[in-house]
Amino acid sequence: YNRMLGYEPGELDGLAVDTVVASEDWLRIREHIRRRFSGKEPISRYIFRARRKDGSEFYVSNIATVVTRDGKRLSVGVFEDLSARIQEEYEKRTQEQHREQVMQEAIHAMSIMSSMRDPYTGRHEGRVGNLAAAIGLDLGLDQRQCGGLKICGTVHDIGKISVPAEILAKPSQLSAPEFEIVKEHTSLGYEILRNLQLPWPIAITAYQHHERLDGSGYPLGVMGEEIILESRIMAVADIVEAMASHRPYRPGLGIKAALTEITVRAGTQLDERVVETCVQLFTKKNYVLPA
Ligand SMILES: [Fe+2]
Ligand SMILES: [Fe+2]
Repeated sequence: YNRMLGYEPGELDGLAVDTVVASEDWLRIREHIRRRFSGKEPISRYIFRARRKDGSEFYVSNIATVVTRDGKRLSVGVFEDLSARIQEEYEKRTQEQHREQVMQEAIHAMSIMSSMRDPYTGRHEGRVGNLAAAIGLDLGLDQRQCGGLKICGTVHDIGKISVPAEILAKPSQLSAPEFEIVKEHTSLGYEILRNLQLPWPIAITAYQHHERLDGSGYPLGVMGEEIILESRIMAVADIVEAMASHRPYRPGLGIKAALTEITVRAGTQLDERVVETCVQLFTKKNYVLPA
């Protein structure tokens, strides 16, 4: 411990303990020592900031206990300098944050690219992301997950980049073969997104956002819990935005009709809790889709 702090052997003798620990931590350490000697805490484990001879501070972990030697009760402990570990942890986290930022920028660039080709889908995706994140927040998901839902929303239809523009902009109902082509945007989106290393399941969500709980969706027709929560949220946000907005083949149907539609499908095709949360957002919390 002497050496860790930059003291010569013996130099610490007689020095008050609080000269070698950070003032903010001293009361807490003293309490551990008191409890140790009173027998309330047979083994103490804690982390504190130690103060070196030069005044600099660093983190140390301590495991200590009280032993009796020659009739005297002594506290003995093992100290570990955590600086290297903390530095390593810090670097790891910084690297992760950096990678995440690069990935997010890549996603942003992708969504701009697809919006340039198809402004209608770009706007739809932005609004779906916003609504999905708002639903997530009200469902109790943490900020990070909600951030993931927002990002995912902005690229959930990215696979449409390979759907011919004349099909996307067709002013009438699609023919069956045309609809088959449109359906492929889910698996194509998955292919585009799957190699991005992000802490959110955005590729799976793009893949599953047209799946329905009763197996009536596409591309696989998976059911129930096989559809991850993020996809179930995206599905609801997607339907609401799509119905409320103008489409090339029909004017917007309005938010009321959209909420009625998801309510009808709640429990069969759509997750009941997600639908309920979405309806409440609009009816009780004054949520409005962004412009
Ligand atoms: Fe879609
Ligand atoms: Fe969509």
